[in-house]
Amino acid sequence: MKRMLRVALVTSGGDCQGLNAALRGVGKTLYEKVDKVEIYGMYDGYRGLIECDYKFMEPKDFSGILTTGGTILGTSRQRYIPGKDIVDNNGNSVLPDMLHTYNRLNLDCIVIMGGNGTQKSAKLISDYGMNVITLPKTIDNDIYGTDITFGFQSAVDIATNVIDYIHSTASSHGRIFVVELMGRDAGWLTLNAGISSGADVILIPEIPYDISKVADVVEKRRKSGRSFSIIACAEGARSINDEVLDEEASRKKKENSHYPTVSYRIADELEKLTGQECRVTVPGHYQRGGPPCPYDRAIATQFGAAAADMIIKQEYGRMVAIQNGKLTSIPLEDAASKTKFLPVDHPTIKLARDIGISFGD
Ligand code: F6P
Repeated sequence: MKRMLRVALVTSGGDCQGLNAALRGVGKTLYEKVDKVEIYGMYDGYRGLIECDYKFMEPKDFSGILTTGGTILGTSRQRYIPGKDIVDNNGNSVLPDMLHTYNRLNLDCIVIMGGNGTQKSAKLISDYGMNVITLPKTIDNDIYGTDITFGFQSAVDIATNVIDYIHSTASSHGRIFVVELMGRDAGWLTLNAGISSGADVILIPEIPYDISKVADVVEKRRKSGRSFSIIACAEGARSINDEVLDEEASRKKKENSHYPTVSYRIADELEKLTGQECRVTVPGHYQRGGPPCPYDRAIATQFGAAAADMIIKQEYGRMVAIQNGKLTSIPLEDAASKTKFLPVDHPTIKLARDIGISFGD
């Protein structure tokens, strides 16, 4: 390609492992394949795009970052009104400011890396007339249209490690442990970490739990001589009683609850039902920190390189994806339209049930 290509890079929303590897994949591929290219790294997610705050990225900026955690560009969460607008804290649209930056830098394309919220915002940016390509990143693995997101596998590794460590102390004390893992809407992380670490019960948002059934599992284990139990619980897990509440009632119940998170309620209820000591462990953002695992380094690099190739071919308005193990891309419209929940008949759920793991249902 002979003409000058100008590309902006944005990392938006919650960070995860592999963001720097993906930035490096885009940057290295563009510098390798394009004669004249200018790359702008926008600071702090959409804020950099709104305020035209950026760093001009030379080839050396993409070196030495493959294995590093977080994002070298910084990130932030941006408010959006689904399907309508991206707004600032006063509710004013920021799309005109973004377009202003786009025109000022004379951009050919913005590469945006993000989770579900970011994909929705990216669709609005694309509809507003800017060329956009997105990459699917999140530890939640809940982006529609891709089998896997980068960040997910690293978080599974960390969460598995947390439960592995909890096992020995749970066993020494004969306690029940509720380990709360990230995932507000989808249970991919909890399911995979739960299976990999040998959890006895896995509670996920997609399968409402009955606390008496969870207590039965603990009791059954105790009667068979196993004095401890491990419950892997997603932060978005819901009981069968909460399942019937509408969004507003559920929000109010959470607000008025004296339990900081769902795990504390589960632990309290289990203690009362079983008489057994119960503890809670919440690894929280630890799951999003640190270096990407080798698998995430590889797929983030692939996603990044694929985005660069799509820029060269001018295939805009799409999200890079992996489907059936193959690298592909899908229209942004599809990626932004749905959340990829864990199907309750997923083979991994069946596997878990086959080996005796309970979902509290
Ligand atoms: O979407 C990624 C995620 O880590 C979720 O699993 C979690 O619910 C949320 O972000 C936490 O958000 P924040 O970093 O804003 O506290």
